[in-house]
Amino acid sequence: MRALVIGSGGREHALLLGLDRDPSVTDLHAAPGNAGTAAIATNHAVDANSGGAVVALAREIGADLVVIGPEVPLVNGVADALREAGIAVFGPNAAAARIEGSKAFAKDVMAAAGVRTARAESVTDTSGVDAALDRFGPTWVVKDDGLAAGKGVVVTTDRAQARAHAVDVVDNGHPVLLESFLDGPEVSLFCLVDGDTVVPLLPAQDHKRVGDGDEGPNTGGMGAYTPLPWLPDGMVGRIVDEVVRPVAAELVHRGAPFSGLLYAGLAIGADGPAVVEFNCRFGDPETQAVLDLLESPLGETLAAVANGTLGELPELRWFDGSAVVVVLAAENYPGTPRKGDPIDGAGTEGVLHAGTALDDAGTVVSSGGRVLSVVGRGAGLTEARAQAYERLTQVGLAGSHFRTDIGKAAEDGAITL
Ligand code: GLY
Repeated sequence: MRALVIGSGGREHALLLGLDRDPSVTDLHAAPGNAGTAAIATNHAVDANSGGAVVALAREIGADLVVIGPEVPLVNGVADALREAGIAVFGPNAAAARIEGSKAFAKDVMAAAGVRTARAESVTDTSGVDAALDRFGPTWVVKDDGLAAGKGVVVTTDRAQARAHAVDVVDNGHPVLLESFLDGPEVSLFCLVDGDTVVPLLPAQDHKRVGDGDEGPNTGGMGAYTPLPWLPDGMVGRIVDEVVRPVAAELVHRGAPFSGLLYAGLAIGADGPAVVEFNCRFGDPETQAVLDLLESPLGETLAAVANGTLGELPELRWFDGSAVVVVLAAENYPGTPRKGDPIDGAGTEGVLHAGTALDDAGTVVSSGGRVLSVVGRGAGLTEARAQAYERLTQVGLAGSHFRTDIGKAAEDGAITL
């Protein structure tokens, strides 16, 4: 099978590494890819958001399967263009990708499907912001109702900060969504979905704040671990039955069946799971940890979704242990990151690339905010954390920073429901 992965982040590097382990995958391509993907795949400089350009590339390389990593091409209809051209694609059409592209649409689908989520209000002009803020708090959740790559969300007890973000979003021409705050530890549950058929992967937990102890601003994600030792037996089944399957069925009912990876971001409260957000693609960095434990062949798994045969796929097999991923971020991330610095140890085992590029001399340099994600695996969280942080000591990037507590609360048994 010839596979083409669209995107350039750590998630796409993890997808390519997973595909590379599948003996049925003979040929790997990435567009646009990064310095790390260039080591295992052929990188192509293509506009990943253009359906026409991606179809042309897929035809040129004779791709049997195209896997779309990020949300923007999905929301822009790149999967639709591939399907129309008769090319197998892992990723939903634009109509189903709205579950991430429009938070108001997602709320509407959840209401119709009877799925628990936060109370929400959409505000479209500055004059409505203050009155709407009065109806929420004391913790405000303020979301950009457009694609913001996980960075458009501010969660704060500081009303002035909530107001400033809301006004900023509206001034940028997007509706702003105010939500009630959902209490309880968060879970990312990725599910393969093909219409009504739902197959969950291992549950993971992201660390969205930039600093140790969940301090500082939100980021795209600073690290993750899987599975979750504190999650009660049966909770994944409950999430599938109470949340994911009803939403998948509602999308079928609306004539927008989902085909690809449906990412449920949840808070597990006293009453059970409630949805924080849905995404229409694999999450980053959770994917780097989750796929590290997958023993089933990834190419065959993704192709089953793309070809509509997910229901016939054998049960997924997993390494019986834990994986931890720690993100190495550039100086000033999540603000405007410093770029162009050489990276030492970028080829270390377990080091996945995201914001990296090759300069004219062939040196790996930083080119984005989240630069690398470093994966460790072990029999349990303690071993997996130790390996990830040991591998990180072999990497050097001037000004970079990372969290030292990824998976620590779970390791310490400090997460309770
Ligand atoms: N891990 C957060 C995201 O992928 O949006």
